[in-house]
Formats: sequence, C-alpha cells, structure tokens
Amino acid sequence: MKGICISEHFNRMERNEIAEFLKQPGRDYELFRLAGEVRRFWCGDEVHLRGIIEFSNHCCRNCFYCGLRRENTKLERFRMAPEEILHLSAEIAGLGIGTVVLQSGDDFAYDRSTLCSLIKNIKKRSDLAVTLSIGERPFDDYRAFRDAGADRYLLKHETASPELYTRLHPGQSLKSRLDTLRFLRNLGYQTGAGNIVGLPGQTIEDLCDDVLLLGELEPDMASVGPFIPQRSTPLAGEIPGSLETTLRVLALVRIVTRNAHMPANTAVASLDAASGLERALQAGANVIMPDFTPECFRGRYTIYDGKTHITPERANAAIAYEGRVTGKGRGDSLRRGFSLATTACDMETLR
Ligand code: 5AD
Repeated sequence: MKGICISEHFNRMERNEIAEFLKQPGRDYELFRLAGEVRRFWCGDEVHLRGIIEFSNHCCRNCFYCGLRRENTKLERFRMAPEEILHLSAEIAGLGIGTVVLQSGDDFAYDRSTLCSLIKNIKKRSDLAVTLSIGERPFDDYRAFRDAGADRYLLKHETASPELYTRLHPGQSLKSRLDTLRFLRNLGYQTGAGNIVGLPGQTIEDLCDDVLLLGELEPDMASVGPFIPQRSTPLAGEIPGSLETTLRVLALVRIVTRNAHMPANTAVASLDAASGLERALQAGANVIMPDFTPECFRGRYTIYDGKTHITPERANAAIAYEGRVTGKGRGDSLRRGFSLATTACDMETLR
C-alpha cells in the first residue's frame, strides 16, 4: 500500500482542506503531527539560530499595526553606529551562530554606501551569513547590498488580502510588495515572506490565502506570527491574534512549503512566554532568532507591546526540551538546487 506522500499530496492542499483545519480545533492533533512529520522529513531535527540586531527604530512608513510607524511621536528613536553593529556581529559569530539578521524600520538615513560598507566589513571579519530585514528600498539598493555580500532578505507579505494590505499600509500595495520579493529572489537572495495572524478585519479566507500564497511563492524562509497591539498605534485597542490560530497557520505553511526555514518567532514567544517557542517548534518551526540588540535600545524597539527577549540560552533550552539539535554552520536555504518537478518522496519507503 502506498504511504503518505508528503510532496505529492500535502504540498497541494486545497483551500477547503486548509479552511477545515483552521476552523476545527478537533483536528489540531492531526495537523501538528502532520506538520511535524513534514518538518522532520524535509528539514531534519536541526534548529538554526539567527542572531538578530535591531539597529534602528526610525521608520518612514505608517503601518497601522506597528509601533515604529512614523506618526508615533511617543517613541524615543535610536540609531546604532555601524561600528557597534560590527561589534555585535562579532559577538554573534563568536558564539558559533552562523547568521546575523540586520533589522530596522524603513530608515533611509542608512544610505546605500553606509550599508554596503557595513555588509562588506561583517563579511571580511567573519563567516556569517548576512540577512537583511530593512524593508522596501529602491531596487538599485538591493542590487548593491547583494553585490556587497548580503545573502538573504526578509520581506514579509504581512497579509495576502490586497484590500486589508492597503488599509493597513498607507501608500503601499501588496502587488508592489510581491514584485519586490520576486526581484530580490532574482538577484540571488534567499528570500523570506510571511504573514501576521489575527489582524483586525482579517478573515479565515484571508488566512487561507496566506497559506496558498506561501505555497505558491515557495520562499526560502517563511515567518508566521500573531498580531499584538501596540499602545501608540491606531490599533491599540484591538484584540491580539490567537496563538492557537497562529500555530495552525504555521503548521499549514510548513506543510505547503515543506522545506522553508520557519522561525518560532518573537511574537509567538511574546504571547506565551512559558512555552511559545516550544509550541512553535512542535508546529513545524525550525529556526529561532535570539536578540542581540543592546539593552539600552531593546526597550525602544517596540513594534508591539510586551515584546519578549529571546536569549541564546533560552533558544537552546527550547531546542533541548523538544529533543532537537542546534544547527551548525550558516543554515542556508534547503531549497537551493531543489526541483519540485523531479522530487517525489514516499514517507513510508524513506522511514
Ligand atoms: N504585531 C505583530 N507583528 C508585528 N510586526 C510589526 N508590528 C507588529 C504587531 N503589532 C511584524 C511585521 C514585520 C515584523 C518586523 O514585525 O510582520 O514584518
């Protein structure tokens, strides 16, 4: 008898199947078990650490949900000097972590040449993979950063609903976000997309679209996290996304993307400080991003309220608790050289 065929069947989950899993809590056991099998089969037991440095909380955008939005006058803004970022990158490399993620608001005070020389200096002084998470920039900037040595780019699509996207991101469009993602991929970046779960006005159908979109995009990385309100935004009074629904979406994205690197992200850990990381690892995640932003700035990187601080120790404890192993090396995309057309795997025969 033919066993479960992870690549042939589950990658092609239909919308109604996805919706059923999202609507029926009674099927969580089945869903998480399946996502766990897919994760194990395609990604193994390694959990990769990425050291994140949140180097600036300035932002020229005005996203309704984000505490860094430019109209938030309550926020004390900061920018880290390139030397300080270099110093922290060396600390990350010294701990044996293979990737540094440089994240900020959309802050053009760091111009093309400043960021290029920062990237070059990090690459000169370490073997770190460099991931950028610095928002939407002119396409020539992306080319220059790539030429300077940047390896990966995170640009979450946030929501697959074009209407909701436009409502929450004044002056921006989902189409341009997705065009940018494709451009980044064509430049040779390992690219990361992902969505927020529980945004005000979001429906189950919208979440199905997120899962289907991520299945189509086949990103190298995919991040799924809950909406958490921030007190100085227009969405301050809204209710946070449900952790249960977020974990279901994470599991579904694992199933349809198969070998995408997926973080147990900080928003998940912030909603459930005791076991959020562990639950995300169980639902299909295979990455954790410990935070190296210095304490004096950390409290000001308030994209949402109650943001927790993930240390390397906390990350390793979650990995050990789940019986997994901390990844070695850079933890590059598992998709490179990977061809959907030629891969057909039968779980039973490979067990
Ligand atoms: N709740 C959850 N996630 C948020 N982000 C920004 N603001 C919020 C919020 N209020 C996420 C976005 C962004 C990432 C850096 O943080 O998905 O891409």
